[in-house]
Amino acid sequence: MEIKPAIRIANVKPYYFAGLAQTIEVLRESGMDIIRLDMGSPDLPPIDYIIETLVKYARHPDMHGYGQPGGSSSLRAAFADYYRDRFGVKLNPNKEVLGLIGSKEGIFNLNQVFINPGDLVLLPDPCYPVYRAGARISQAETYPMPLLAENEFLPDLDAIPSEVAHRAKLMWLNYPNNPTGAVAPLSFFEKAIDFAKKHNIVVAHDAPYVDVCYDDYIAPSILQVPGSKEVAVEFNSLSKTYNMAGWRVGVAVGNPEIMRLLSLFKSQMDSSHFTPIMLAAETALLDDQSWIRGRNMVYQRRRDIVVKTLLDLGFHIENPKASLYVWARLPNGWDDSMAFCDTLLKETGVSITPGNVYGESGAGFVRISLVTPAERLIDAMLRIKDWIKERK
Ligand SMILES: Cc1ncc(COP(=O)(O)O)c(C=O)c1O
Repeated sequence: MEIKPAIRIANVKPYYFAGLAQTIEVLRESGMDIIRLDMGSPDLPPIDYIIETLVKYARHPDMHGYGQPGGSSSLRAAFADYYRDRFGVKLNPNKEVLGLIGSKEGIFNLNQVFINPGDLVLLPDPCYPVYRAGARISQAETYPMPLLAENEFLPDLDAIPSEVAHRAKLMWLNYPNNPTGAVAPLSFFEKAIDFAKKHNIVVAHDAPYVDVCYDDYIAPSILQVPGSKEVAVEFNSLSKTYNMAGWRVGVAVGNPEIMRLLSLFKSQMDSSHFTPIMLAAETALLDDQSWIRGRNMVYQRRRDIVVKTLLDLGFHIENPKASLYVWARLPNGWDDSMAFCDTLLKETGVSITPGNVYGESGAGFVRISLVTPAERLIDAMLRIKDWIKERK
């Protein structure tokens, strides 16, 4: 029998990193030492008391049933407390906070509850691939908002034609940004909220790197803009802030009608988190936050190693103030990021990500992740240095 895919999935390309993992497996089997600077999965563990909370509750015999859908009321209250303490933003935990099984789940499902075939979605270009995949699987049309170095990697909202703005239903934003490492001032969020209100567009701001900041930079939340909840939802996550990517705890906060729709969809689809994970997540959000500064210093040191090497080699780079990534324009003489990364991987064992994986405006760029210990990072930088010198 021929298995025919649904139209919505027929043209979806495999997730880039799934294919990369296969290439890497083959290279490893051939005996090559691979250094992966391609993904954004934190290499460090959460602080001990978070893990201890998980272990303690996992031992309770009555903690193994289904958890409360959309997160327990105490987890939602903990997210609201975090938003109050971190951003001065007041949230109603029952109506304006929804626990997610990782923010990726909510980011994808926002399209499911909101987008009909043919609707128009505004996407940053480059962007986290799930915004595009989510929109396409909902059979939306997408309109790219280029993130260019000359605009500090912020979309130029004034350049969006009025007929496009008029048709658009949803706009994605993401700061601190993956993949560019750029940050946005609150004044940009104010402008985006004004734009969205003027054109009746929902703004989805994705903020998983909001607490991964360097050089004393403090990133804002879009919900700090007065009146933003009329049009905005913000996605946040414990994955990067607390080194808990595998635990799958995220949150959507903001407009209560959007929370209601996401919650309705989720209730048909998943059965919440493991309760001890929710209790440990509460501990992460509510207990002492000072360890995060020390963790950010570790990333900052790694960032400095990468930035220095790449600048010496002639790459053009903005030193990122936040996120887990260095976004670098290829040096003169190179223009194909895909060929650059592929050859680099096969000849040196260093894996970095081609910028065009994130969208057309990423062509000519590469993304280097900072989730590898400094010694390995130094090794990777030396390999890149020797490789480029040999080719000159
Ligand atoms: C911009 C962005 N949004 C969302 C996510 C997904 O995070 P989570 O682990 O909460 O699903 C990532 C993960 O890399 C990301 O880079």
